[in-house]
Amino acid sequence: MILNIAMDGPVGAGKSSIASAVAKALGILHLDTGAMYRALGLTAIRRGVDLADEQAVTALCHTLHIAVAHGEMGQRTIVDGDDVTDYIRTPEVSMAASTVARYAGVRQEMVAVQRRLAQETPMLLDGRDICAYVLPDAPVKIYLTASAEERARRRWLELQQKGDASTYEEVLADLKARDEQDMNRAVTPLRPAEDAVIVDSTALDFDQVVQAILNIVKEKHHE
Ligand code: DC
Repeated sequence: MILNIAMDGPVGAGKSSIASAVAKALGILHLDTGAMYRALGLTAIRRGVDLADEQAVTALCHTLHIAVAHGEMGQRTIVDGDDVTDYIRTPEVSMAASTVARYAGVRQEMVAVQRRLAQETPMLLDGRDICAYVLPDAPVKIYLTASAEERARRRWLELQQKGDASTYEEVLADLKARDEQDMNRAVTPLRPAEDAVIVDSTALDFDQVVQAILNIVKEKHHE
């Protein structure tokens, strides 16, 4: 059977980097599903599509070919043959991704691609709706979280290293706004799936979180 691991959690819980490390340790691929919504958000901004216009954003999504490739440098995200990986992590694109991810037609299309990829290859998918919706039969489900203040602190440090001038207060406000939007949208809002194991990383360092998740994977496989 193909080993799929489903991981969800709010912004800044460290999902992407933790998911990468866990997938590497298990020798499986990591699919960062948020990158797909980010690629759409970026393209909408670049083309001047009004993000609040559900129909226009959904129509744009239907015309695009959003693909992912896995190589030495991890996941690359590609829109119509153009590698956009280096442009999708700005605060503006983060908020745009959260906005376009509210639209049912967009989600339908993204989820279809994600399910197809997961059927073909063993992989760990991280996102917001993976446990409850994209892969409801995944043998291992994790909800990775941390306090809003700790998530903002980590995100702020990361942005600072990149030379971004945002203050901690701005990052915290931005994170809370995205939490609010992700957790309260009409379609598959973010919340822990009933059968997901909750991992709270507030007081854990990176290696401890990776180890905790590897332990859960091991346990689930012996059940
Ligand atoms: O994980 P991330 O921060 O890169 O995700 C960007 C946005 O995309 C996030 O605000 C919510 C949305 N998203 C989603 O709705 N469903 C997913 N499976 C992944 C991300």
